[in-house]
Amino acid sequence: MPKRILITGANRGVGLALVQLLSDTAEHVYAGCRQPEFAEALQQVARSTDNVSVLGLDVTDAESLKQASNDVVGGVDLLVCNAGVLNGYSGLRGSENALTPEAMDTFVDVLKTNIAGPLFTVQAFLPHLRLSDSAGIAIISSHMGSQQHDAANAYAYRSSKAGVNNIMVTLSHELAEERIAVAAYHPGWVRTDMGGANAHLSVEQSAAALAQRFEELDMALNGQFINYDGSALPL
Ligand SMILES: NC(=O)c1ccc[n+]([C@@H]2O[C@H](COP(=O)([O-])OP(=O)(O)OC[C@H]3O[C@@H](n4cnc5c(N)ncnc54)[C@H](OP(=O)(O)O)[C@@H]3O)[C@@H](O)[C@H]2O)c1
Repeated sequence: MPKRILITGANRGVGLALVQLLSDTAEHVYAGCRQPEFAEALQQVARSTDNVSVLGLDVTDAESLKQASNDVVGGVDLLVCNAGVLNGYSGLRGSENALTPEAMDTFVDVLKTNIAGPLFTVQAFLPHLRLSDSAGIAIISSHMGSQQHDAANAYAYRSSKAGVNNIMVTLSHELAEERIAVAAYHPGWVRTDMGGANAHLSVEQSAAALAQRFEELDMALNGQFINYDGSALPL
C-alpha cells in the first residue's frame, strides 16, 4: 500500500471511507475537504489516530490548493482525486438543463469541479508526488463518462467525467517520463449522498475494492480507465 496518501472530498461518501480504510495501513493520510470545521465525521477519524491530517481544500479554488500543498510536508505516494459533484439526472426537459443563466452557471460549476478540479489538484501536489519513488494518481471518474455508456440524461455529469477521463489520458502521457502512473477509476454505484439509497455498494465495499486497485497502480496501468472490480472500462 502506498505510504503517504492524499485524498480530496474526504469529509463524506467514498472519500471518507477511503480515509478510514487507508489510515489503517498508510504511513500518513492527508484528508482534504472544503470545510474542515464542519467535517465532524472526518475530524473524529483524525482524532482517533495520529496518521490522519485534515486539510482545508477546495478543488475549484487555486489559492486553497496552493495553501493545502504548502501545508503538506514531504512526499506523497498516491494522490486520489475523489471530490466531485453531480447535477441531477435529467435530460433536455429537466430543470437542470433549462435555458436560464442559473442552469448555465450550474453546468459550468460541474465541469469546473469534476474536470478542472482534478487537473489543478494534480498541478498543486505534483512537487510532493515528485519526491516519491513510485508515485501514482487515481482519478475517481464514473462509467457514466464512457462514450460507450448508452444513456439519455445527466449531460453535465457525463460530459464532466468524459472530460476528466481525457485529462487523465493527457496527464498519463505528460507524466510518463517521470514515471508517475495515472489512472481513472469507476468506484461502482455506491450508497452515498450522490449515489442514493438504492445503489449496489456500501462505501466500505467501494473503498475496499478501490484500495486493492490502488495497490496495483503502476506504469503498466498508466492511462487506463478501470472499474472497481479491476476490469478494464472503455473511455
Ligand atoms: N456514489 C456513486 O455511485 C458514484 C458513482 C460513480 C462515480 N462516483 C464518483 O465518486 C466520487 C465520490 O462520490 P461520492 O458518491 O462519495 O459523493 P458525495 O457523497 O456527494 O461526496 C462528494 C465529495 O466531494 C466533495 N466536493 C465537492 N465539491 C468539492 C470541491 N469544490 N472541493 C473539494 N471537495 C468537493 C464534497 O464535499 P462537500 O461536503 O464540501 O460538498 C464531498 O466530500 C465523485 O467523484 C463521484 O463523481 C460516485
